[in-house]
Amino acid sequence: MAIQISPSILNADFAHLADEAAAVSPSADWLHVDVMDNHFVPNLTLGLPVVESLLKATDTPLDCHLMIEEPDRWAPAYAEAGAGSVTIHAKAASAPVRTLREIRRLGARAGLALNPAEPVEPYADLVGEMDMLLLMTVEPGFGGQKFLDVVLPKIRRARELLDSRQASVWLQVDGGVSEATIERAAEAGADVFVAGSAVYGAQDPAKAVDSLRSLATRAYGRS
Ligand code: DX5
Ligand code: ZN
Repeated sequence: MAIQISPSILNADFAHLADEAAAVSPSADWLHVDVMDNHFVPNLTLGLPVVESLLKATDTPLDCHLMIEEPDRWAPAYAEAGAGSVTIHAKAASAPVRTLREIRRLGARAGLALNPAEPVEPYADLVGEMDMLLLMTVEPGFGGQKFLDVVLPKIRRARELLDSRQASVWLQVDGGVSEATIERAAEAGADVFVAGSAVYGAQDPAKAVDSLRSLATRAYGRS
């Protein structure tokens, strides 16, 4: 499957989100929207009203990453609003299967996220319930952190698991992805890459997306 790049607007100028979305279009496959509630993570960003406005301001599909408590309660509304993908954190959900199914029923792709220290194996039987598995490569909460190499073996194990089930589940990594780290993650088997500071901190964000994509494409499949 083709490599996809999802620039995170966490590192964009929140006062000019429509312009920031346009700055990566049409290079970006997705716009990654980090929803944080100051409880699940120690940071507060934006919520459904901003997502609804952003949906009107861009044609790039939204990849909503919910770093919130009670995702069972809040996630369906993002799918209903028109987000292309909605990802919940496994440890925050009390009924992940029900919530993933609800996200799909409402027309979005359903994602399940794991923090760096959370193993993938307990979720092996849920593979059929998800469209994307997100492995955090930093502790969630802030942009601009250092990529955690300690997650690389888990990316490999997740890739083996997905391949062994012949699942067409995307494997996303999020946190510290840059020109210096994307090849390691792609070699390990990730195929969807979130990049915040590496894109919005660049002189030319669209060009940064293109160069991340070509690095990952070359590295993917190299072991
Ligand atoms: C962190 C967020 C990330 C963040 C990535 O908790 O989930 O999406 O924006 O930013 P960088 O790419 O700068 O690590
Ligand atoms: Zn994110």
